[in-house]
Amino acid sequence: MKLWGGRFTGREDNIMKKFNTSLPVDRRLYFEDITGSIAHVKMLVACELLTEDEGTLLVDGLESILKDIESGVLKVEGDFEDIHSFVEMNLTERIGEVGKKLHTARSRNDQVAVDMRQYAKNKGQEVMVALQQLIDSLNKKAAENNVIMPGYTHLQRAQVVTFNHHLGAYVQMFSRDKKRIENAVNILDENPLGCGALAGTTHNIDRQITTDLLGFSKPVDNFLDGVSDRDYLLELMSGFSITMMHMSRLSEELILWSSQEFKFIEMDDAYATGSSIMPQKKNPDAAELIRGKTGRVYGSLFALLTTLKGLPLTYNKDMQEDKEQFFDALDTVLDCLEIMAKMIDTLHVQEENMKAAIKAGFLNATEVADYLVSKGTAFRDAHEIVGKIIIYCEEQEKAIEDLTIAELAKFSDHIAEDIYAYIDYDAILEKGNKKLIKKTK
Ligand code: ARG
Repeated sequence: MKLWGGRFTGREDNIMKKFNTSLPVDRRLYFEDITGSIAHVKMLVACELLTEDEGTLLVDGLESILKDIESGVLKVEGDFEDIHSFVEMNLTERIGEVGKKLHTARSRNDQVAVDMRQYAKNKGQEVMVALQQLIDSLNKKAAENNVIMPGYTHLQRAQVVTFNHHLGAYVQMFSRDKKRIENAVNILDENPLGCGALAGTTHNIDRQITTDLLGFSKPVDNFLDGVSDRDYLLELMSGFSITMMHMSRLSEELILWSSQEFKFIEMDDAYATGSSIMPQKKNPDAAELIRGKTGRVYGSLFALLTTLKGLPLTYNKDMQEDKEQFFDALDTVLDCLEIMAKMIDTLHVQEENMKAAIKAGFLNATEVADYLVSKGTAFRDAHEIVGKIIIYCEEQEKAIEDLTIAELAKFSDHIAEDIYAYIDYDAILEKGNKKLIKKTK
């Protein structure tokens, strides 16, 4: 069941056969492989390298294989080296001798290159759709929860923000991720079919025809590059890695926020699990798994970078390793994006606990200093004065706004009744840069 037996007299070792085969992995390229072959046949007919009748037989045969795979009648399995061998041998079995003409003016090197580019292009677009769904979920949850919460630096309560603004930060991250994927898809959108094994072909083919039929923007400019370029997989996987990193940061916050220590949110039961021993537990497993799987996607990116780094031009069998890494990274990022969007859709915000955390955290301390500055105190002096006020509040177990004017005046002559309006949390949000909050599309 091989495409290349002619030059061999000895038999392949069974362990070698098992080691070499890629069908269990590249079987998922069947659609791109068959549609690529159909375009190739149509081009060969247009260039008079095949007759119309031969072309019809080949295209009908390929279409019937596609139909049978999609309906489940034909299973993509068996003793074949790869998806290309599977399709070609199946074709010859169905339509007879003419099937052997399919591979005219083509190599598996440009064939696999075109299959992977098509697949990467389609799946890149799928990731963009999934990113947009997550962005929509974040925007919706943000709009429903324009509630006040502590903002953090160093994981210490810092200044007051809104939950809306906090989720909005992630909207920005995922919007940039989407642009990165879109950019990678635009760069890869070139047709390598017609590059042959590495040096084109002596047949008078027309690469523009397959380019148009397959919907690529142009044929590649260089044959050697066309069969050995896997940059586009690295670019997509870099995009996936950055997306995972952003989801991992969001996961970390969801995990913290749903802890008893924060209690800012409650996860829906659908995305949590219990403990086999501790009956009270509700664990945020979905978020933890996303955080964990981030390492796996980085690993795939690094595996492929390392595989490619020492390869001479052009095709080397090492490159077959691209698929397992790319497919795993892709499946992981798609699963995680879907789960993350659902987790965001269903989480419940515990508004009262967010508010209580603000009171306890002196989140208007910076604004007390700003108030003193507005009355003529130098900022550095104001900072010092507020530090003293905080010590006093801690001793008294009071918030700054709960001190009387008499108490406050002990720290500075500049403090008057208007301070309360100045350091009120809603007023701070109103005045502050929260004006920036707008719904990101
Ligand atoms: N399974 C191979 C791959 O994924 C297809 C290309 C094989 N080409 C070759 N010259 N052996 O890279």
